Amino acid sequence: MVRFMKCSIDDSIIKKMYKKALKARKNAYAPYSDFEVGAALLTEEGKIFTGSNVENVSYGLSNCAERSAIFSAVSCGYRKYKVLLITADTAQPVAPCGSCRQVIKEFGNNIKVIMTNLEGNFKYKEINELLPDPFER
Ligand code: THU
Repeated sequence: MVRFMKCSIDDSIIKKMYKKALKARKNAYAPYSDFEVGAALLTEEGKIFTGSNVENVSYGLSNCAERSAIFSAVSCGYRKYKVLLITADTAQPVAPCGSCRQVIKEFGNNIKVIMTNLEGNFKYKEINELLPDPFER
């Protein structure tokens, strides 16, 4: 299931995050798109926060799984992250949307983003690769 990745994070931790993201995905509220996403976020302290997408009848108010996980961690006082793993039912490992990339980048340039799908395909990039020219002021 979990394939080797050169991201310097222990395979057992990635496996644990993947399982938690799959579980979080089950809680996705996505009646409009029918596209359910799960995320797991590993903090520097080793804590794992999860998130799912939460949609709204006013579509623009919908929140992505990645941001749900980050907002949950921040709300609990955790702001330093090592890895964000996301999963969805896609042919290729699912990549974070542009808005989520900007939100991930807010908390560090080197956060590792692990993109996965339900088949257990994994892809890995750092946020600075996924968002090379972020908005800054
Ligand atoms: N979605 C995420 O949760 N993460 C992303 O990075 C992209 C899209 C959600 C938003 C919406 O609920 C559904 O997927 C379809 O776009």
